[in-house]
Amino acid sequence: MERRRFFLRQCAGLALGLWLGVGCVQGPSEAESPLAAPALGQVDTATIDACMVCHSTREMQRGPVLDGLPEWYLAEQLRNFKSGHRGKNPANRAEALMGAAMAKVGTEAQLAALARHFAGRKPQPYIRVVRGNIAIGRAQYATRCASCHGAKGEGKPEIKSPPVNVQEDWFLLDQLRKYANGQRSVHPSDAGGLVMKAALAGLSPGDFQNMVAYIARDLTVTPPLQKVGPPKK
Ligand code: HEC
Ligand code: HEC
Repeated sequence: MERRRFFLRQCAGLALGLWLGVGCVQGPSEAESPLAAPALGQVDTATIDACMVCHSTREMQRGPVLDGLPEWYLAEQLRNFKSGHRGKNPANRAEALMGAAMAKVGTEAQLAALARHFAGRKPQPYIRVVRGNIAIGRAQYATRCASCHGAKGEGKPEIKSPPVNVQEDWFLLDQLRKYANGQRSVHPSDAGGLVMKAALAGLSPGDFQNMVAYIARDLTVTPPLQKVGPPKK
């Protein structure tokens, strides 16, 4: 059912011309269609559906929602998974989940098309779950993070620094912990990861929480989703 609905959503998106570079139906008719994606590399819906098993809000055990991350950053991280800069650390089981998925991404063109696909989607609102001291977090963000991630968390592509204002708060916190405890950026040629790891020197897990609580409340581009309780009888 879910798969079917997902497929229909994608087709609707294509019909509206919103489907950035990703075909809904792969077939000979596509070549003639004015809406056909450029031959820059296409991803079939089955591959995207496979990504969405973990990268949507459907599952409890899942990866982050990728919608709205910049194309260059998504491509960069997919290359990191492909080359083994990420995902080869047995201590990071979450990253290891990506390994099997990357086996489906055979070519650079496919990888680029996947990055384009997720970058073309709108950032998703999410339920804020990280609590912390906003004032302390704001001050720390300004002195320790803003130079690379921007005053609004918008990121700086020229130094390959991603935005931090679209991801879910739990994922931001999780990644800060992983940089700090050596679960992310363990590969000696993962230049970006090593820069980020160094940026956390001297900060504590409590600092991470304060900064993420601040980012989620004041910088995140989507409004918070409210928790919905069980329906009243
Ligand atoms: C079996 C689950 C699973 C599947 C399938 C999967 N992923 Fe992931 N992915 C994850 C998890 C978990 C993480 C977070 C890793 C971590 O916490 O270190 C992740 C991380 C990522 C990241 C890094 C995000 C960031 O901001 O650092 C990207 C990009 C990504 N996945 C893209 C994809 C794409 C594209 C596909 C489909 C080809 C895919 N994933 C399929 C589980 C999965
Ligand atoms: C010197 C520049 C620099 C500074 C300072 C810096 N970062 Fe980063 N940050 C980066 C780069 C580069 C990356 C991408 C690293 C990679 O490829 O793994 C990154 C990645 C991240 C990520 C992972 C995003 C994702 O989607 O996977 C988070 C979260 C993050 N930074 C938060 C912070 C916070 C909070 C601070 C302040 C304590 C900070 N950064 C300071 C450069 C910086």
